[in-house]
Formats: sequence, C-alpha cells, structure tokens
Amino acid sequence: MDKEEVKKVKEAVEETKLADLPGIGPAAVAKLEAAGVFDIMGVATMSPPVLSEVTGIGEAVCRKAIQAARKMLDLGFMDGSEYEKKREDIIYIPTGSKNIDNLLGGKGVESKSITEVFGAFGSGKTQLALSLAVHVQLPKEKGGPNGKAVYIDTEGTFRPERIKQFAAGIGANPEKVLKNIFVARAFNSDHQILLVEKISEMIKNGEPIKLVIIDSLTAHFRAEFAGRGMLADRQQRLNKYLHDLMKLAEQRNLAVFVTNQVMSNPAMMFGDPTTAIGGNIVGHASTYRMYLRRSKKDTRVAKLIDSPNLPDNETVFQVTQDGLKDVILKSED
Ligand code: GTP
Ligand code: MG
Repeated sequence: MDKEEVKKVKEAVEETKLADLPGIGPAAVAKLEAAGVFDIMGVATMSPPVLSEVTGIGEAVCRKAIQAARKMLDLGFMDGSEYEKKREDIIYIPTGSKNIDNLLGGKGVESKSITEVFGAFGSGKTQLALSLAVHVQLPKEKGGPNGKAVYIDTEGTFRPERIKQFAAGIGANPEKVLKNIFVARAFNSDHQILLVEKISEMIKNGEPIKLVIIDSLTAHFRAEFAGRGMLADRQQRLNKYLHDLMKLAEQRNLAVFVTNQVMSNPAMMFGDPTTAIGGNIVGHASTYRMYLRRSKKDTRVAKLIDSPNLPDNETVFQVTQDGLKDVILKSED
C-alpha cells in the first residue's frame, strides 16, 4: 500500500458506522445509542454478553460484531505497510485433511490465533493434534511452515508410535519428526501454566516453534475447581491462561491448538446433549472453534462454530493408521 491507499483505509475506518457491523441492524443501533455507545470503538471494547444484553441480539452474532469492530480498529491504528506485513507473516499448518483445512479457510490452522477443538471421548481431538504436530514440520514447498511443535499433554495420551505412523504416512522420516516435537506432561493446572512460560524461553534460544498444542486445555482446571462455588475462580484462571496463550501466539507468530472436553447436559432433550467445558470464556478467547463427533461408518464430522470470518460449516473425515483421511460423501450417505 502506498501513502494514498493508507489514507483511504484510514478514512474508510473513520467513516464506518455502527450499522456497518455484521448483525447490527437499525434497532440495535438505536439501543446502542440509547446506552451511550455511538462508535465502533464502543463496540470493540464490549464483551459479547454485555453487547447481547444491550441489543437483545444473540451472543454468537454479538461476538462476530465485536470481532469485526476490533478488526476495523486494528486497521486504523497501524499504517498500511504495517498491516500488510502483519498479514504476510501469518503461517498456516495443514491438518492432514484437506476437508478440515478447507473448513478452516483453506490452508489449515492459523498462526496468531487460538484454534479450539472440542468433542466427546474418542471423537478424534488427540488424533488431530498429533497430525498437526507432524504437519507443522512440512517444508514450505509442501505447504508447511517448517517448524517444530510443543505438545503439552495433560492426560498422558501423547503416543510416539502414532507420530511415527503419521510421519511415515506423508513420507517423512519418523525418528526426525518425533525429535522435533517437545512433549511435556503437565501434572496440574499450575504446571500447565508454567510450561507455557517456558516456551518463550525456548524460542529465544532459537527453537523454531510454530505450533503449541495443549491436550487438554480444561481437564486439570475442571478437576481442580470442581465445586459449584469454584466456578468463578476456574473461569478467571482459564481466562488469564488463554490471554497469555494469545499473547504468545501473536508475539511469536505461532499457532495455538487446544482440545476441550464436552460435558453432558442431561437436561437437554434434543440435539447433541453436550457443551464445551469452560463455556463462554474458552469460546470467546479462541479464534476458531471446531466441534468433532463420531458419525456412521467410522467417519467423523468436524463442524466449524462461530468463526468471525468464515461460514459455519461441516465436513467429514476418517482417522486411519497413517493419518487423517478425507471422506467424500455419496448421495445415499
Ligand atoms: P478424549 O481424549 O478421550 O476426550 O478423546 P479424543 O477426542 O482425544 O480421541 P482420540 O483423538 O484419541 O481418538 C481416538 C480414536 O481414534 C480411536 O477410538 C480410534 O477410533 C481412532 N484411532 C486411533 N488410533 C488409530 C489407528 O491407529 N487406526 C485407526 N484406524 N484409528 C485410530
Ligand atoms: Mg484426547
């Protein structure tokens, strides 16, 4: 962008009205103005529940509007070349399934963001994480960022033999691939938090870490803050943790991938009776959220939820011995 274009972008941002935000119609604008919110900045600094309360619009839509507002402001605060550079930097990690890559916008999991995958026991969350830990090592000419991975394992489910199988599946050297993954078993939530602080040190020491996996993000928090009265504490700590992860992702231009269990909600009678642990806090902090479930004929369905810039969509894949495999549905399926 040259100076003239930068000026145009800045003017466009200044001229943006509340009604230009996705999902914000005239009625919502009137309610916002009645509440003293007149510009994009006012929306950008709100939380989805608050915006939802003020406007009466659903939280998912509010979240998108807030994210759009924040994006627009971002544009206003940096000059065009900085902006261009920020986008140029972004790297992508293929998941191993073209279907899932497409679901996430085409190239896989994105740096400078948190991708959360949630689903029931055995739905494929860990398999997807392991596949990413292998694919992050792909060289540029094969569509990868040629980086290393950190795997924070809270459940003891990291499987070196699966890594080797996935590596062999893409024709890479299994032993070398395994060596480029730093695995740590986190024994409790404090330890899990401490391990993230160590990652910055490793990067400073020259390790080209491009992917941080936390499998699972919530298990320890859930176990340690079990009682009803502890919910607020748990959410607060999770919130801070996610904030730190986001900072790490942005500062080091790496992708954060977290898994999350679902808890069953027996009160729900229709649909899938499960909800992601950590509720709103995890949902709002992650940029991309994907829900996995088992489906017929040993297939799995991945569904994108509430993405700020992509349509909510779903796709089908399979877990096989040597990697994730795309499933093309025939009409009789
Ligand atoms: P939790 O961590 O228990 O919440 O589940 P998860 O979502 O992490 O499940 P995970 O990713 O570990 O998926 C386990 C499933 O992957 C198994 O039940 C198998 O169906 C499948 N799977 C794992 N390894 C293999 C393999 O070598 N071959 C095949 N065909 N499937 C596998
Ligand atoms: Mg798992």
